[in-house]
Amino acid sequence: MRIVSVVGARPNFVKIGPLIREMRQHAVITPVLVHTGQHYGEAMSQQFFAELDIPAADHNLEVGSGSHAIQTAEVMRRLEPLLISARPDVVLVVGDVNSTLGAALTAVKLGISVVHVEAGLRSFDRAMPEEINRVLTDAISDLLFITEVGARRNLIREGIAPRKIHFVGNVMADALLASRPRWRTSSIVDRLGLAGTPFAVLTLHRPANVDDPRVFGDLLGALREIGRHIPIVFPVHPRVTSRLASEATAPGSGRGLICRPPLGYLDFVALMSRARLVLTDSGGIQEETTMLGVPCLTLRDTTERPVTVTHGTNRVIGTCAKTIVSEALHTLEHPPRPVAPPPLWDGGAARRIVQILLAERLARRARAPESMAPAPALSGSGA
Ligand code: UD1
Repeated sequence: MRIVSVVGARPNFVKIGPLIREMRQHAVITPVLVHTGQHYGEAMSQQFFAELDIPAADHNLEVGSGSHAIQTAEVMRRLEPLLISARPDVVLVVGDVNSTLGAALTAVKLGISVVHVEAGLRSFDRAMPEEINRVLTDAISDLLFITEVGARRNLIREGIAPRKIHFVGNVMADALLASRPRWRTSSIVDRLGLAGTPFAVLTLHRPANVDDPRVFGDLLGALREIGRHIPIVFPVHPRVTSRLASEATAPGSGRGLICRPPLGYLDFVALMSRARLVLTDSGGIQEETTMLGVPCLTLRDTTERPVTVTHGTNRVIGTCAKTIVSEALHTLEHPPRPVAPPPLWDGGAARRIVQILLAERLARRARAPESMAPAPALSGSGA
């Protein structure tokens, strides 16, 4: 079974490591890894491959940055010939980034089965680009692997056949647990001069939070206020760097925002694991803090990962500056008690996924090779 897995952005890299490792345990599987190049460079890409033991991608499409249309279209344009020549049985995509949708759409149009890992999550906010990517990818997937039970309800409501949906747990949890011995020994806290000092961690990169200077300014005002009580380490996503030039403070200066370039996976998980509080607008970090038992405040109005609230340490508090300050100070005073991780977030998700892929193998084989051929060129419009 030839499985082409397509990844593009940081959260995808975290999720694909355990899957590729598991696929390699089975001689009948030929895993092919395609990197779209949506995220690139040492800090946003290479470092993740090295730290998460992900083999180098077999192909890099070098799509890079661009508008949503350009990025998605470039993934499709560059992936199509590769899929035509590789003739995979399955294209596997993870998460909800533009690369996820671009790859799924390319595969389904070639008649290749699409497998979506981390399906069925819904924020019910269609203004989020990721929500569009999630809904559309799920609609065209043949197998949908879900991380939390509520995702099944979301998918069935959208007309997905129940037999396609499998509750397998969370490959992000697999990655976190497998790399534990290594992130536990990270020296990042010492390197930041924060040994023995309580600190908070912040990530912000959602367009809704950082693209509008007024919204971003209000958020920074709230964060500066919290920074008067506890230093906040802020690894800055490239989308935000230019907006932040004046905010940097020296490492270990004790108070305020400690702005740093993006961190690698091991340092970042180590930092979160020792933080008093994490403030974020990321999806994956809501899950990682839940696994780590670290209090998380999500600076958004919705979450597509409600299990992190019902079974974890996450609270979704919106973006009102006053609320953020009061919730942060309250959480520092009264940290929530860590609870057991959500069901099946136990390190076994990749194994379950691969078992199901193997069991589905015969159905995939039935596909006719002609369906891989590119559509004949059409002459004239409306032909
Ligand atoms: C993307 C995903 C988002 C995910 C996030 C994780 C989509 C729609 N968004 O958001 O769901 O949570 O990744 O980090 O797919 N840039 C660089 N170097 C890079 C990558 C990006 O400098 O390696 C800069 C570019 O200026 C680019 C901007 O960051 O235009 C945004 O990058 P992009 O990949 O479009 O979206 P993210 O904000 O990273």
